[in-house]
Amino acid sequence: MAASPVASQRDSWATRLGFILAAVGSAVGLGNMWRFPYVASEGGGAAFVMLYLAIVAVVGIPLMTAEFVVGRLTQQSPLVSVRRLGGKAWAPLGWLFVVCGFGILSYYSVIAGWTMRYAIDAVRNAIPSDSSAYFTAVSSGLDATLFHVLFMAVTIWIVVQGVQKGLERSVLVMMPILFLLLAGLAVWAGTLEGGDPGYGYYLRPDLGALLRPGILAAAAGQAFYSLSLGMGALMTYASYLRSKENLGGEATMVALADFGVAFVAGLLVFPVIFAFDLFDTVSESSIGTLFIALPKGFEVLGRTGDFVDTAFFVLLFLAALSSAISLLEVVVTAMIDRWGWRRSRAALVAGGAITLLGVPSAFDLDFLGAMDQITGNFLLLVGGLGIAFFVGWRIFPQADAELALGLESPGLRRTWGVLVRYVAPVILVAVLVSAWPATWTAVRTLLGLE
Ligand code: PHE
Repeated sequence: MAASPVASQRDSWATRLGFILAAVGSAVGLGNMWRFPYVASEGGGAAFVMLYLAIVAVVGIPLMTAEFVVGRLTQQSPLVSVRRLGGKAWAPLGWLFVVCGFGILSYYSVIAGWTMRYAIDAVRNAIPSDSSAYFTAVSSGLDATLFHVLFMAVTIWIVVQGVQKGLERSVLVMMPILFLLLAGLAVWAGTLEGGDPGYGYYLRPDLGALLRPGILAAAAGQAFYSLSLGMGALMTYASYLRSKENLGGEATMVALADFGVAFVAGLLVFPVIFAFDLFDTVSESSIGTLFIALPKGFEVLGRTGDFVDTAFFVLLFLAALSSAISLLEVVVTAMIDRWGWRRSRAALVAGGAITLLGVPSAFDLDFLGAMDQITGNFLLLVGGLGIAFFVGWRIFPQADAELALGLESPGLRRTWGVLVRYVAPVILVAVLVSAWPATWTAVRTLLGLE
């Protein structure tokens, strides 16, 4: 396929900051806020945090760089890029990305819908004291469906406006607010009486936990999910880059920002749980935790609590929205580049289909959980393995030349090559094998066999 004339009129970022904030916005999401704190505390606290950081450094940053390289190299949607650079045999990898975008956004939007509902009810001071009954009532059924549809409508609306007017403008507003809210809440949590043991619980270095089977899979799965890796989201964002940024440097920055937010989220969540004695409510790492336990704690505080409640759910909502637009963008840009559709048409059709696919998740939490396991914990890793092989073995010389535009140090590029070609595939295969049993159970759940 020759370079299409469309490429030159293609959308692009107006500023480097816009690109970075959009990539950070994609990465920072529900995964950082509710998933990281619990996975970390269960996985050995500070010891897990170290393991997680090691995976981010050894697999996460190199693969993110790889996604950036492919995106900027082709200036096309990932669906088109992998086929164009790799040939027909690689086309399924592009389709896998689109499937992940569909699957993840379908249930992600349901959870994001809860955050909208909670934020609105917090402003109206209408979250009842029995927060667990409230969660049960709003987390599935018609209410959940309604807010899922609303959330998708907002996401579609932003994506319809295009890269500069939609994505870039919205992250320039959302991300600073998000950082401020998070920092403010974390400082507030530090002032809570009786909250200090929470820090200890979160971060106690339990080295023994690192020997448990499945801990590597937990860390790697969390890293991929949190960094938005393995499904072409960041590849898509990099395809709107024109200038010759140092892609390795950008990837490091995005990964560190993502980690920082996840880490600080833990500093917020655990003191609250300890200060208000919410351990009974915290049902393992289940998704309800944040939605049930935290409002219960905030309630004790009266007016301050209403304020904190609102701030907290607005924070979650913004984090979810800036991730959702990247998920939808992958599918939309695929339709634009592959079939020549107009952006508005692509966003409406893809967004509409994803909304429909999300309805079963809005009615059944088990279905939602199974979708999360299959797409978020498994297919992303398959996609990551695909990207490692594609970039490391199929287009390596080209990718290396592209990376050289910004990353001049040959030593660093050599290290990158080794990590992408050898280290990442080995780790990913090990992780996929250990994630398979849970994924198989999830497939059976979806099919109604469990
Ligand atoms: N990184 C997002 C989060 O942490 C989720 C996500 C995954 C977004 C994959 C885009 C692509 O919530």
